Amino acid sequence: MSKRKKHLVTSALIYANGPIHIGHLAGCYIPSDIYVRYLRSIGDDVKFISGTDEHGVPITIKARNEKKKPKEVVDYYYSQIKKDFEEFGISFDIFSRTSNELHHKTSSEFFKELHNNSVFVEKESSQYYDEAENQFLSDRYIKGECPSCSYEAAYGDQCEKCGSSLSPSDLKNPVSTLSNNKPIMKKTKNWYLPMDKLQGKIENYLEDKSNWKSNVIGQCNSWLKEGLKPRAMTRDLDWGVKVPVENAEGKVLYVWFDAPIGYITATKELIGDNWEDYWKDKDTNLVHFIGKDNIVFHCIIFPMMLIEHGEFILPKNVPANEFMNLEGEKISTSRNWAVWLNEYLNDFPGMQDELRYCLITNLPESKDSDFTWRDFQAKNNNELVSIVGNYVNRVFVLTEKFFNRKVPISSGKNETLIKELGSLKISIENSVSNFKFREAMSYVIDVARLGNKYLTDNEPWKKYKDNPKFVSEVIYNSIQVVANLAILCHPFLPHTSNKIFELLNIKRLDWKSFSGNIVSSGHEINDSTHIFSRIEDSVIDNQIEKLNKSKQKNDNIMPQKKVIEFDDFSKVDIRIGTVIEAEKVPKSNKLLKLKVNTGIDERIILSGISKFYSPEQIMNKKVMVLINLKARKMMGYESEGMLLLAEDSDGNLSLMQPDSNITDGSIVA
Ligand code: MF3
Ligand code: ZN
Repeated sequence: MSKRKKHLVTSALIYANGPIHIGHLAGCYIPSDIYVRYLRSIGDDVKFISGTDEHGVPITIKARNEKKKPKEVVDYYYSQIKKDFEEFGISFDIFSRTSNELHHKTSSEFFKELHNNSVFVEKESSQYYDEAENQFLSDRYIKGECPSCSYEAAYGDQCEKCGSSLSPSDLKNPVSTLSNNKPIMKKTKNWYLPMDKLQGKIENYLEDKSNWKSNVIGQCNSWLKEGLKPRAMTRDLDWGVKVPVENAEGKVLYVWFDAPIGYITATKELIGDNWEDYWKDKDTNLVHFIGKDNIVFHCIIFPMMLIEHGEFILPKNVPANEFMNLEGEKISTSRNWAVWLNEYLNDFPGMQDELRYCLITNLPESKDSDFTWRDFQAKNNNELVSIVGNYVNRVFVLTEKFFNRKVPISSGKNETLIKELGSLKISIENSVSNFKFREAMSYVIDVARLGNKYLTDNEPWKKYKDNPKFVSEVIYNSIQVVANLAILCHPFLPHTSNKIFELLNIKRLDWKSFSGNIVSSGHEINDSTHIFSRIEDSVIDNQIEKLNKSKQKNDNIMPQKKVIEFDDFSKVDIRIGTVIEAEKVPKSNKLLKLKVNTGIDERIILSGISKFYSPEQIMNKKVMVLINLKARKMMGYESEGMLLLAEDSDGNLSLMQPDSNITDGSIVA
């Protein structure tokens, strides 16, 4: 017997800071599940690894917002996420977590090994620091203006608007996301991976990867072309894996250092002592399924870590997907613009495969894709119900009607049909092996189409009286098609596959059982039922309404500032005034120069509202003025106060006014 092919397939360790939505499934969990189910079905040896990523700033920020400990947050979401994946049939062999002890040990040892090999460069540098919070500001603890696209709320690790990857020092006008304070600079020591020096090794590694998806290799090449830069593998935080070397008090491993090692930890947990069979044997195919925002970490940084450690095999392929949008807009947790899996299951109990199907046919394999509820309905009604469900039902009804649910006798004349079926099977195999799951799915539907056509061409319902032998043959063959359909749809629609096997009253079969004679003559099948049902318009209307209702237009709203004492507020002197002169400031497209009667005096105030109000529009208006603000010079004029304005997240300004003709000099408090 030849040795079974070995695969270690991983699916990104998901941050345990929120529930999961369709974008997660479409990004990497469904593709990896299809791949793994297929490999298992053809008899390969495969381990399917995933879990939760429980360190890093996304977790600590969530905990802070909810006034909980990070551990409470990750415990809660770990169980919820695990359950959601199970319900959708994502068939991990293990779903681990990076907060567990074994992982701390594994990642700590990994770091020490690199440290002992003198891989890291230890460097003291000045980093942004929030004095009020006693916290260094890395990653999402800091935001400011993006140097590439000028988006104002770009984070210290990435701009969510243009996707640029950033470091805190790239941001213009940085502020702490913890306190909204301006950070100071403070010295700290960190351990850097000298990615610049190691670039050559990664170039070697990626050299023969021309078979990788073009979106993946394209991103890698653009990183390499820009030139890799040293990156700190440690952080000044208190949540994470402690840096296991001397003089590293108060520091933890960078989350992107420890998280991918989580794949190794999970393998140890699953297999025990023999885990190295899957990480150190060249015959193992290591494949990472991820979303596109994870490409650099899996194709450059993690391989670099593995190379520097030594002994480990490197990823054979990293079939990353792009993103899935929802109704034309980016899925967003903060805006609640998402289809949450737990809510879907409440609204569509038992309909996991219907969602899987719609996601598979829309996988963002080469570019971003879009999920819409109307499309979900159409795919369900026109494809699952009309093609697959209808076909299976027709075969069962005919068997019941003419043969009393017993598989009829056949002389075995089915070559063309089985040949066509066989070529669809090969197409599915090729597509899955090349990570083209959308294409593979369409071949599966073609199996039902083929079966339908065979029935329609042969019209067994018309011919029983004159030629029962012929009808026997047609029904026998049709039952074989249904059985093969159950085999071939299993990686994609596992619940449906099981249902069909149950209806056929046979045990589940794997890929090797594909044949023209699966179910024997005389075998009794179950009563016919419909394996899919139509979704009505009203159900879809409700979903769309629910989505629109729950969408909060508040994703860019500034979080509340730090709590202050009343005394702090009472220092502020705001008065009602009237604008008595207004003109544009020459050479400024923002500023108006106003003279305002404050009740106390008449004074010059410069205000950046020129884009929204003309001098004529603002003339004689009642306004609110902060009068005890220290005078400031702007464009050559001294401004002795500030008009109160409201500003939305897009930077639109609106003048604040009293809602009566109250006298100038009145106090606002
Ligand atoms: N938590 C990351 C994310 O959701 C993925 C981590 S993948 C791993 O984007 F390799 F680091 F584990
Ligand atoms: Zn940007």
